[in-house]
Amino acid sequence: MEVIVKESYAEVSQAAADEVARVIAEKPSAVLGLATGSTPLGLYAELIRRYEQKELDFSSVTTFNLDEYVGLPAAHPQSYHFFMRQNLFDHINVAPENIHLPAGIPNDCRAFCREYEQKIAASGGIDLQILGIGSDGHIAFNEPGSSLASRTRVKTLARSTIEDNSRFFDRPEQVPEFAITMGVGTILEARKVILLATGEQKAGPIAQAIEGPITSMCSASALQMHEHVLMIVDRAAASQLEQVAYYEWVQQKRSHAPSTA
Ligand code: GLP
Repeated sequence: MEVIVKESYAEVSQAAADEVARVIAEKPSAVLGLATGSTPLGLYAELIRRYEQKELDFSSVTTFNLDEYVGLPAAHPQSYHFFMRQNLFDHINVAPENIHLPAGIPNDCRAFCREYEQKIAASGGIDLQILGIGSDGHIAFNEPGSSLASRTRVKTLARSTIEDNSRFFDRPEQVPEFAITMGVGTILEARKVILLATGEQKAGPIAQAIEGPITSMCSASALQMHEHVLMIVDRAAASQLEQVAYYEWVQQKRSHAPSTA
């Protein structure tokens, strides 16, 4: 796990966009795993900017989103379908047939989840998975207690998550209580993972995810078992990390380190 501490939200977004650009440069038909939430908004704005500057081409890229609320149609302004169109897909040249999100209103949830997993596998698997982190340490909607081997399925949202998300809805009772989410096991199969976190309210979950024990109580801690993870955080989100000086030392020494290739 590499921990990269940046000075600002803009720098976190730039560093994440550099990773996406690197993956697409190496493999124009890359499969990207995408996240919602406020945190990746700066990354998406930067990807749009680079596309407009003709630095990035998404024409052969495939995307799979992590999750969607159950019960919200794609046209609902708080659905993750709507969020992704508004903040990314409508502004880049990704082919509509290459975009995948869990359905908000599937006919048969269980069959849908199985097919979502099959589609990820049929695409060759996710090359780069982008993640945020919930205030309870969740990734996607893998709430505390989620099996670290879990696959795409329906999850009941934690009360704290419903409260966190109520800022986007007029009334708290409008916040959906269920979501279809990729599992922790699904996420761990991505070839590379970047998790973004900014702001003091993420300091606790980030410390638990990076330096705490691996536990289903903080599903982000499962990333400690993944071979290629970048945790890109700002100084506020890094403020409870005990080893922050070491992580910064590693970054300084990076260019001098012997190659392991
Ligand atoms: C939701 C999403 C997560 C996201 C989290 C944090 O729970 N399912 O994927 O990481 O919100 O959101 P924010 O970035 O707004 O703090």
